[in-house]
Amino acid sequence: MPRRAWAEINPAALSRNLARARALAPGARVMCVVKADAYGHGAAVAATALAGADAFGVASLEEALALRAAGVAAPVVVLSVFFAPQQVAAMREGRIDAVVHSRRQREILHAAAGRNAARINVWLKVDSGMGRLGFAPAEVEGELHRLRATAGVGEVRLMTHFAAADGDDAAARALTESQLRAYRPLRGLPAEHSLANSAALLAWPASHADWVRPGVMLYGASPFAHRAAADFGLAPAMRFCARLVAVRKLRKGDGVGYGPLYRCPENMPVGVVACGYADGYPRLAGGAGVAINGATTTTVGAVSMDSLSIDMRPLASTVRVGDEVELWGGAVSVNSVAAAAGTIPHHLLSALGARVQRSVISTVQ
Ligand SMILES: Cc1ncc(COP(=O)(O)O)c(C=O)c1O
Repeated sequence: MPRRAWAEINPAALSRNLARARALAPGARVMCVVKADAYGHGAAVAATALAGADAFGVASLEEALALRAAGVAAPVVVLSVFFAPQQVAAMREGRIDAVVHSRRQREILHAAAGRNAARINVWLKVDSGMGRLGFAPAEVEGELHRLRATAGVGEVRLMTHFAAADGDDAAARALTESQLRAYRPLRGLPAEHSLANSAALLAWPASHADWVRPGVMLYGASPFAHRAAADFGLAPAMRFCARLVAVRKLRKGDGVGYGPLYRCPENMPVGVVACGYADGYPRLAGGAGVAINGATTTTVGAVSMDSLSIDMRPLASTVRVGDEVELWGGAVSVNSVAAAAGTIPHHLLSALGARVQRSVISTVQ
């Protein structure tokens, strides 16, 4: 059946990007972040391509168990919150690591400890300035001792997360420096430490420590608005495409789509592509690039639920209904579409619609 909107996933690009991460942080182990179905790429496919990972990070117990069901044997860490004893039992059974950010969670671990049951490895979360979850730095030493003394708890490692390591302005840099400063005294505690997401891995070598936790860079996107993925030797692991389904000849002043948020500045051909916001393309990304048959043009107007419109004027007359349109991938970066939509590539990749057919390809783009 011909496809209307699809995503080609490139496992070779994933492994190449992991190799880049390793080369940039040679002294660290790598926890590959594959939450949200590996940022839309498919968790099982990504985990296979990233088989060299020292661990995988996911957002929920369900995602962790899905990796185990797919045959992943490496350590798997549930990066977000557990809140019930039943979850602890399932984590223990699945040999899944937990992140602990509160005393309440320590109590749940204690209450759920079986006499002869296996122990759960724990990552103690430090709030070094993110202002979200975690213990204040001053609480960490005491909490580390209490966790290590808690029944059912195995190894305890420390982790924190950066709020603005991707930022280029003075305020963002000052915040990252202050988070590094806040964490520095903890580096003397006898435990393994993990601080860096993709942005910190790429831009803040002082954050590398024992474990790095890259996510978006593994998928070939840049965590920065001001630097392209190619600058770091990263290759896009997803090519998101859809079919051109109509070309309309509109007149000067005609509106295009809802609003209309775009009016034709002259008589012009406008193409309709079979991909909308229900497929994960952002609704307001006017002026984002698309590529067809080696040429590029831009989207016009608001994106509908099932379609979007493009300016056909820059395209050769050989472009035909039925041709493939690349929405992001090798010719159009997901970063550029995210910038046009006022968001970040993490958002676009992880929001790829369930009805977009994923297929795995075998060559590097
Ligand atoms: C705790 C934690 N570590 C690492 C990452 C990976 O971040 P990035 O995709 O920016 O590399 C995330 C993603 O949000 C996260 O929540």
